[in-house]
Amino acid sequence: MQFIPSADLTPFNTFGIAARAEFMARFHSADDLRTALNTPELQGKPRLVLGGGSNILFTRDFPGVVLLNEIPGIRVVHEDDTNVFVKAGAGVVWHQFVLHTVEKGWSGIENMSLIPGKVGAGPMQNIGAYGVEIKDVFHSLEAMRISDGEVITFDREACAFGYRESFFKREGRDRFVIVSVTFRLKKAADVVNTSYGSIQEELKRAGITHPTIKDVSNAVIAIRRSKLPEPSVLGNAGSFFKNPVVPIAVADRIRADHPELVSFPSTDGTVKLAAGWLIEKAGWKGKRIGGAGVHDKQALVLVNHGGATGAELLELSEQVMRSVREQFGVELEREVNIF
Ligand code: EPU
Repeated sequence: MQFIPSADLTPFNTFGIAARAEFMARFHSADDLRTALNTPELQGKPRLVLGGGSNILFTRDFPGVVLLNEIPGIRVVHEDDTNVFVKAGAGVVWHQFVLHTVEKGWSGIENMSLIPGKVGAGPMQNIGAYGVEIKDVFHSLEAMRISDGEVITFDREACAFGYRESFFKREGRDRFVIVSVTFRLKKAADVVNTSYGSIQEELKRAGITHPTIKDVSNAVIAIRRSKLPEPSVLGNAGSFFKNPVVPIAVADRIRADHPELVSFPSTDGTVKLAAGWLIEKAGWKGKRIGGAGVHDKQALVLVNHGGATGAELLELSEQVMRSVREQFGVELEREVNIF
């Protein structure tokens, strides 16, 4: 365990916001984490667990200890004729894990290629992209209970996954640290999910008619690179807001004025609206306030053009939310965690 007082958080958040933590503890195993939690200097201090720092906006210095999850390792724990159960340390970089599974010919997470962050953060907010969410391939996870250091196994039901939601984002918040995640993948490199329109377009463009998981992974990488800024080039935390889920009547009201509204109906009488579309229609795409901006290729993404503070990005997000409320009567909810 590495223990660092007055740590610079700039390299540890993908927005690239300059903030400091009173202490940082970098841990590489569950035992290491237990040691960190028992360190006398850290008792009673606020704690914040960071993986890749790709879903967080710092608006101030953190007056406590930032626990940096660096638990490594990928191994097969079980397999049968069709499935392979793969366990990954929470500190493994998500995209490295995806590439490893694609290389092995195990299908299930290729649509989630290039999502920033680490494995442990995946179940926290049930990450998803291009028609697949973690919950679809999730088997179980191990998390340390902070109060007594015990490692507890959670199955899918116990994680209570929802759209960018889980037990760990709600009741379990600040009570557990995820140490490993086990995925149930398929031993078939040709079982693919190409339901998402832009994947079909990209495969067509590349002239691929019978895609393998490698082809789908490459297509997703190409789509993401074309729309989503690379954090090392332009600081960002992916989608800043969730796509709002509204009653059908609300979608119908907006569609009356805007027949081109982008929405995804579900079976329970609600409709998911594309927040990027709402924000773009409200006139924010490509706009800047100082160093804080709305990305010019995907309006759901806020970016740090350089030197933005967390407070400026937060203020920009509030202005965007106000516009969308005033123009469409729809409340946006932030996906990114604010500190
Ligand atoms: N759109 C616009 N203008 C924009 C952005 C989007 O009109 O500026 C429209 C697009 O034309 C499209 C629709 O909105 O018809 C959906 O856009 P896109 O496919 O880019 O996906 P999204 O709904 O904006 C979600 C996830 C992303 C994920 C993509 C692909 C959320 C909050 N975001 O974005 O996840 O990569 O789908 O599956 O659900 C993230 O969570 O950080 C993230 C990047």
